[in-house]
Amino acid sequence: MKRLTLVLLIIKGAIVCAARYKRPNILMIYADDLGWNDVDWHDETLRTPHLRRLAFDRHTVQLDQAYVNQLCSPTRSALMTGHYPHHIGTQKLRDLGYNTYLVGKWHLGYCKYDFLPSRRGFEKFRGYYADKAGYFNHSRDLWKGGLVARGLDFFTETWNTSSVPNWSREGQYSAEVFADESIQLLRDQPKNHPFFLYLAFQSVHAPLEVPEEYVRRCDYIERWDRRIYCGMLNALDEAIGRVVKALRDLDLYENTIIIFSSDNGGQTMAGGNNFPLRGNKDTLWEGGTRTNSFVHSPRFIKRAAVRQQLFHVVDWFSTVLAMAGQNISKYGR
Ligand SMILES: *[C@@H]1O[C@H](CO)[C@@H](O)[C@H](O)[C@H]1NC(C)=O
Ligand SMILES: *[C@@H]1O[C@H](CO)[C@@H](O)[C@H](O)[C@H]1NC(C)=O
Ligand SMILES: *[C@@H]1O[C@H](CO)[C@@H](O)[C@H](O)[C@H]1NC(C)=O
Ligand SMILES: *[C@@H]1O[C@H](CO)[C@@H](O)[C@H](O)[C@H]1NC(C)=O
Repeated sequence: MKRLTLVLLIIKGAIVCAARYKRPNILMIYADDLGWNDVDWHDETLRTPHLRRLAFDRHTVQLDQAYVNQLCSPTRSALMTGHYPHHIGTQKLRDLGYNTYLVGKWHLGYCKYDFLPSRRGFEKFRGYYADKAGYFNHSRDLWKGGLVARGLDFFTETWNTSSVPNWSREGQYSAEVFADESIQLLRDQPKNHPFFLYLAFQSVHAPLEVPEEYVRRCDYIERWDRRIYCGMLNALDEAIGRVVKALRDLDLYENTIIIFSSDNGGQTMAGGNNFPLRGNKDTLWEGGTRTNSFVHSPRFIKRAAVRQQLFHVVDWFSTVLAMAGQNISKYGR
C-alpha cells in the first residue's frame, strides 16, 4: 500500500513537472546567402539595426563558430532532418503537437507532391519552391539553351490540400510579403499552443532587387552592387523587426525562442562580402560555410554571451527538439 502511494506520488509529480514545462514557440529565421561581413556589426556601412539589437541583447547567445554547408539545399535539408545532406527524413515538431509553418524558401524538392512542405511536416506553407525568383514578380525563367518557360513560383499549401499557385502577391517585394504572411500566421495561431515558424527569407540572394527607397538609404556606398545589396539587407532587417514587433504585440514574445542564421556564405559576385574570411558561397572556405548565427530567448537566456564552440547546421534539429521538451537521446544524437 505504502509503495503504491509512493508510486502514485511519483507519477503525479512527473505529470505536474511535464505540465509546468510550457513549451516555447520557436521562430527560426534564415537569410539566404548572407555573408560574414554582411551585418552592420561587421561592416558598419550596412544597416541592420533590428538584427543588431537582437544579436547584442542580454537575452542572446551568439554562435561565433556556426557552420553550414556551402550551398542552399544541402544546408536546408540538414536543418530539417539533423542529418548530413545525404540522408533524408521528415520534420518532427508537428508530431509533438506544434503548429508548424513555413514561410519563404523551400528548395528541398518539388517534382512530386510527396516532396512538398505540407508532406514534410509543415501544416501551412506560403512561399516558393525553387532556388531563386524575381523579388517582385515571384516568377522564374527556365533556361535550356535559350529561354523555354517563364512561370510563377509562389504557392500556398495547407497540410491536407495540394499546393495552389498564388498570384495575389505579384508586384510586392518578397521580404515584405514574407513578413506579412508570418504576421498573419502568428495572428491566427491558437493561443496556448506552441508553434514552430521557419521563416526562410529570399533576401539577400541574387538578383539584386529592392524598392528604390531602400537603395537611397545606402547612397553613400560607391559600388553599385554593394549599394543595392545594402538596401536589400535593410529591407530584410525591417521585415525581421516587424515580425518581432508582432510577437510582442500578440504577447508571444516572452515565450518565443528566436534563432537567426543563413544557409551559406555571401555571394561576392552579387554584392555579398565575407571579409576577413576567405572564399564565398559555393566554396568550402570559411567564407562559404561560416554564418552569423544567434539564439535569442527572453525566457531561457539571462546573460549575453558569445560562444566559441563549434556548431553545425545539423545540430539545430536536436537542439530545437530539446527546446520543445523532447528527450533527444532516442534520435541517437
Ligand atoms: C521576373 O523578375 C526577374 C528578375 O527581375 C526577371 O529575370 C524575370 O524575367 C521576370 N519574369 C517575368 C515573367 O517577368
Ligand atoms: C483538412 O483538415 C481540416 C482540419 O483538420 C479538416 O477540417 C478538413 O476537412 C480537411 N480537409 C480534407 C480535404 O481532408
Ligand atoms: C493567396 O495568398 C493570399 C495572401 O496570403 C491569401 O489571402 C489567399 O487565400 C491565397 N489564395 C489561395 C488560393 O490560396
Ligand atoms: C532519455 O532517454 C534515455 C534513453 O531512452 C534514458 O536513458 C534517459 O534517462 C532519458 N532522460 C530523461 C531526462 O528522461
